[in-house]
Amino acid sequence: MTQLTHNNNYIYSFKYDYHHNELCKLESRQIFDKEERNKVLFSNVKVDPSISPFIKNRFEIIASSENYPELLKTIQGKNIRVEGFKVEYLKLDGDAAERPERREKLKDIGYRIDGFPNFNNPSITYAICHYQNLWYFGVLTKQNTAWLKHNKKPCSFSNSICMIIAKTLVSMASTGKTDNNLLDVCCGVGTIMLEACISGFNIEGCDINAKTCQHSRQNLAHFNYTSTVYCSDVKYLDKKYGAAIIDLPYNLFSYSTDSITENIIESTAKLTGRIVIVSISDIGTIIKKSGLKIHDFCTVQKRGKSKFTRKIWVCEKEHSAIEMKINQN
Ligand SMILES: C[S@@+](CC[C@H](N)C(=O)[O-])C[C@H]1O[C@@H](n2cnc3c(N)ncnc32)[C@H](O)[C@@H]1O
Repeated sequence: MTQLTHNNNYIYSFKYDYHHNELCKLESRQIFDKEERNKVLFSNVKVDPSISPFIKNRFEIIASSENYPELLKTIQGKNIRVEGFKVEYLKLDGDAAERPERREKLKDIGYRIDGFPNFNNPSITYAICHYQNLWYFGVLTKQNTAWLKHNKKPCSFSNSICMIIAKTLVSMASTGKTDNNLLDVCCGVGTIMLEACISGFNIEGCDINAKTCQHSRQNLAHFNYTSTVYCSDVKYLDKKYGAAIIDLPYNLFSYSTDSITENIIESTAKLTGRIVIVSISDIGTIIKKSGLKIHDFCTVQKRGKSKFTRKIWVCEKEHSAIEMKINQN
């Protein structure tokens, strides 16, 4: 019998280091409204895995069964005819199948698809996986790792955020929706902007420092991205955005005080109803004072450096939270 477990259309698989556990869970709450467990998540929400640094695969379920021969029968019955296909085995948590067994199963599936396979440049990738006593057959979409080229951006900055956090800030601010226009409020050398651009988001940046603005424009141009960078204090911007990201200045290379933080957050709140903020200190009181509600939160440690933690605050204006709830119902 074919069935869709939990009535979901997609299985997402995740990969991350231990110190990004909380961050990945925060991201999945923003995109899917639930947390990944054991690096697996079932959902009806369709997103491109490439928007996240943690989602490795999206598996679109075509058929599932408790019984493997039954699953093969279902696949056969679908009379799939396609040239240049490939079949992969997606190994999920709890699946103990060894390589020879996995290889056999790939052959089983391959024989039930009509057409010539293409292993190097497939037109479509089918996959099989086993999770919590059920077998699944579906179409696999993998994360495109082209974003890693941003590691070699021409201009860096000691205050820059790491690429993994930059990428997840974009997916959290946008909740995965690429039609959301975004603002990177303290853009520095544009680390966050690069991650937005490669995933097809509309993003603009602003920074008070002329030199870092120049560097962010250089970085964007290097990868042929055409986003605008305003050399300005955020308080002078007057455009509206779907969401904003603020990587707050801290007293290392960019001077900061509570009143600077307050000004940046308050000015940004005039431009959008949803803001994802990165800080190194507890700014909960400042956020609330600026009329925002803390919708979600996590801390991120640097690998091996437990003393340096970043705090990630997902904030919304009260009415935005209500509007989002209405839209979801
Ligand atoms: C932590 S750094 C951001 C780093 C950036 N995310 C990157 O990866 O390069 C903070 C930035 O905030 C900028 N900044 C400080 N006050 C600002 C303001 N009022 N408006 C806009 N940018 C501001 C600083 O010039 C600095 O580049």
